[in-house]
Amino acid sequence: MISNIAVMRGVKSLKDIDVSGKRVLIRVDFNVPMDSHHNISDDRRIRAALPTINYCIDHNACSITLVSHFGRPGGKYDERYSLKHIVKRLERLLKKRVVFVEDFESSRDEIATCSLERVFLLENIRFYEGEKKNDPELSKKLASICDIYVNDAFGTSHRKHASTYGVMEYVDTKVAGFLMMKEIEAFSKALEDPVRPIALVIGGAKVSSKITLLKNVLQKIDKLIIGGAMSNTFLKALGYDMQHSLYEDEYIETAQHVMDQARHHGVKIYLPVDVVITDSIESPVDIKIVPAQDVLEGFQAVDIGPATVKLFSEAVGLSNTIIWNGPMGIYEIDNFSKGTYKIANAIADSYAYTFVGGGDTADAVDRAGEADNFSFISTGGGASLELLEGKILPGFSKLDRREEEL
Ligand code: 3PG
Repeated sequence: MISNIAVMRGVKSLKDIDVSGKRVLIRVDFNVPMDSHHNISDDRRIRAALPTINYCIDHNACSITLVSHFGRPGGKYDERYSLKHIVKRLERLLKKRVVFVEDFESSRDEIATCSLERVFLLENIRFYEGEKKNDPELSKKLASICDIYVNDAFGTSHRKHASTYGVMEYVDTKVAGFLMMKEIEAFSKALEDPVRPIALVIGGAKVSSKITLLKNVLQKIDKLIIGGAMSNTFLKALGYDMQHSLYEDEYIETAQHVMDQARHHGVKIYLPVDVVITDSIESPVDIKIVPAQDVLEGFQAVDIGPATVKLFSEAVGLSNTIIWNGPMGIYEIDNFSKGTYKIANAIADSYAYTFVGGGDTADAVDRAGEADNFSFISTGGGASLELLEGKILPGFSKLDRREEEL
C-alpha cells in the first residue's frame, strides 16, 4: 500500500513550473512566537520561507503576495495579532521592501502591477471569518489575485482552511514550496527509508494524543522509548502505584496493548526506571528522585530520573535513526527540565539521523541549545503529529501532481 508520505511526495513543486511574469500567491506560516512588546523570539518559520520567496524573485515572478495567519484571533480584527508586527523582520531577512496590505481586495490593481522591487504581505488571514470555515467566497477572492498558488505553510498544512486548502479549487496552477518539499523529504528519510536501528522517543502528557501515531509507526521502528507524563500510564499498566502523577485511567488497557504489540513486532520498549517526584508543581517544598515503582504517597512524577537518562541515552546512542516527539517532563519549569534537556543532548551527540517533530519538542531542543545539532527540526507541531499518524495533510492533497505519479 502506498504510504501517506509517498502520496505527498508526488506533488509538483515550484521547480516544476515557470513563474516568470506571473502573479504568485505564497501561503506561508508566519505564526511565530511574539511577546507583548511584539518582539519575535524565534523567527525560524520566517527564515524557512525565504528560499521559496527568493526563488520567485530570482525567476522574475510578476508580483509576490504572502498570506499567513498569526495566532487565533477568532475571525475578527485584533491588533495583537496583526501581521504588521513582522514586516520589519521580514524586510531585514529578505533585504527587500515589504508592502503591508490591510485589505487585499482593494489592493488588487497594485498586486497585479509587475515589480520585484517589493513583496506584498497580506494582513492576518484569520481576521476573515471565512478562513477557518474554508469559505468558498474567501477562497475565490484569494484565487482572483494570483495566477499561481504556492503552499509553503507546512506548519498549517493539517488545517482545511480557505488559504491552505479551499483556494486550490479555484487556481489552475498550485504547487508546493521548498519548505513543504524539505519537510516531506525529511519525514521520508526518517520513516520510509531509515537506516536501522530506528528509535522513536515519545513523550508529552497524554497517551490519548499519541495513540494513533504509536499505532502507525510501531511496525516501522526497532525501539520505543517512552517518557513524559504519558509514561505514567504505561507504568500504571505495569502495576506501579503512581500516586498523584498525571495518568489516564481509561488508557491503561491501551498502554498494555501497545506493549503487547511492540513485543509481537520485536520492538524493544524502554520505560523510566526512576523519576523526579514533587509534592507540588507550582510551589514545590520537596523534590526527590525515586525508583519508578516507589513514588511516595502524595507525590507526583514530573521528569525522568538520572538512571533513566542513562538508559535512554544508551538506547539512542546505539540507534542510526531517531525520531523524537514529546518532552520527557515539565521542561518549562527549571526544576523538572533536566531529563528533557539531557535527552536532547544525548540525541544531538549521537551519530544518527535525528528528526524532531515541531511544537514543544522543537522548543525544548532550542532551550537545550541543541537546535543546530539535529539533522532536521520540523516547523510544524500539529502537522508533524498528523503526518506521523499516517494522514495525508489537506495542504498537500489538492496540489498539482507530477505526471509520473498519476
Ligand atoms: C502552529 O503553530 O502549529 C500552526 O501555525 C498552526 O496554528 P493553529 O494550531 O492555530 O492552526
